[in-house]
Amino acid sequence: MRFFHDQSGILHAENVSLAEVAQDVGTPVYVYSAGALRAAAREFRAGLHGIARKHIAFAVKANPNVAVLHLLGNEGFGADIVSDGEMRQALAGGMRAEDMMFSGVGKTDGEMIAALDAGVGQFNLELEAEGVLLSSLAQARGKRACAVLRINPDVAAGTHPKISAGRSANKFGVPVGEAGAVYRRLAQLPGLDLRGIALHIGSQIGDLALLEDAYRAAGAFVRALRAEGHSVTHVDLGGGLGVAYHSAEHFPAPAAYGAMVQRVTRDWDVTLMFEPGRLIAAAAGVLLTRVIWVKPGAECPHVIVDAAMNDLARPALYDAYHHFAAVRPTRHQFGANVAGPVCESGDTFAKARSIDAVTRGDLAVFHTVGAYGASMASTYNSRALVPEVLVDGDRYSVVADRVEQGQALLRQHLPNWLVEHAPA
Ligand code: LLP
Repeated sequence: MRFFHDQSGILHAENVSLAEVAQDVGTPVYVYSAGALRAAAREFRAGLHGIARKHIAFAVKANPNVAVLHLLGNEGFGADIVSDGEMRQALAGGMRAEDMMFSGVGKTDGEMIAALDAGVGQFNLELEAEGVLLSSLAQARGKRACAVLRINPDVAAGTHPKISAGRSANKFGVPVGEAGAVYRRLAQLPGLDLRGIALHIGSQIGDLALLEDAYRAAGAFVRALRAEGHSVTHVDLGGGLGVAYHSAEHFPAPAAYGAMVQRVTRDWDVTLMFEPGRLIAAAAGVLLTRVIWVKPGAECPHVIVDAAMNDLARPALYDAYHHFAAVRPTRHQFGANVAGPVCESGDTFAKARSIDAVTRGDLAVFHTVGAYGASMASTYNSRALVPEVLVDGDRYSVVADRVEQGQALLRQHLPNWLVEHAPA
C-alpha cells in the first residue's frame, strides 16, 4: 500500500492528504492513485515480457472512469468492453476502437451495430447464433467482423460462486465439446473473420494451477482446430488474477502468472490477449468515509460510517473483506462492526473486527476498492452517486462528480393522469 501511506500521522494518497480531500470534496468519495495504477499496469506488462505477440486490454467493468481509462490507454492498454456504455467510456478515455474486445453473453443488435460502426477490434462470441447475427450485420455494412469464439472449458476457478464463470453450468461460452462444430460453421460465414478463441473462467483467482488447466484445454482445442485446417492467430486468455484484500493473503504475482503463461503457450504461435481488471485497479483505490456515530451494540459497538452498500457493494454481495483504517490513526484498536446508513443489515462492511479506534467525525478508508467499487455503485435509499478523485503526486482532481439526489429527481415524472385523479 505504498501509494497510500502515513505522512505526519495523516493517511495520504501519494502526496495528497486524505483529510484535505475530505474537506474539499466531502465524503464518501473514492480516491485513486495514478501512481498505483501505472505501477500495476507496468508490473502486469513486465510479467508478460517473454511473450512476443500480445495485446493487453483493461476490463472496463472494473473501473470505467474516463480518467482511469485515459491513464491506462497511455500505458498501452486497450479495453475489454461488455456494453455500448463501456465502449463509449473507453472512447471518451481516448482508447482506440480497434484496441477493444467486445465480450459479454447478451450483446444486443444495437450494441453490435454500434461496435461495428465504431470499428471495435474483436468480438468475443458467446454462442453460434450471435456469430450468425454478427456476420449478417457486418455484411450489411460491407464489413467483416473480427471475432473469436469463447469456449467454456468446464474447470473450477476456486473463487466465490458469484464470480466463477468457467463451469459448464455457467452461462458463459460454448462447451468445449461442442465448440469444434460451432467453430467450423462460423468460420464459413462471409461477414466474419474468425481468428481464434477466448476464455475467462472467473475472477479473484488465486491458484495458477486452475488457470493453467483452463489454458491447457484451450491449447488442445487450438491444436484440434488447426488439425482441421483452420487458421488460429489469436487466443484471448481473459482476466481473473486475484489480489490480496487482507495482509495475510498471498496471491501469485504477475511475474509468476507470466511465467506460467509462457510455459503453457510456448508452441501456440498466436497473439495472446489479456483482459485484467481487478489486478490493475483494485489496490489503486480507497473509499474515504466519515464516521457518523459509534453506536453501542449488543456484542460490540457499531461504527456507522457515511459510506454504504450502495457506494461499495462487494461486502454485501460477496461477503468481501476490505481493510478499514483511520485517516488519523491513534495507537488504539477496538472490536466493532462497521456499517453504513442503508436500511438493511446487509449494509455491513465488517463484523466484530478489530479496527482502528474511531469516534464520531473521524475519517477512515476502506482499502483495495479501485476495482468493482465505484463501478458497482448505485443510488439505493435515494443516496447520492459517489464521486471519484484521482491523485497524481501532489495534484488531485475530481474525476467524477457526486450526483446529488436532486439530479436523480429530475429524471422522474409525475404523470398528469395520476395527479389529476388524486383525491381532493
Ligand atoms: N474478462 C471477462 C470476460 C470478464 O467477465 C471479466 C470479469 C474480466 C475479464 C476481468 O476479470 P478480473 O481480471 O477483474 O478478475 N464484481 C465482481 C467481479 C466480477 C468480474 C466479472 N468479470 C467483484 O467485485 O468481485
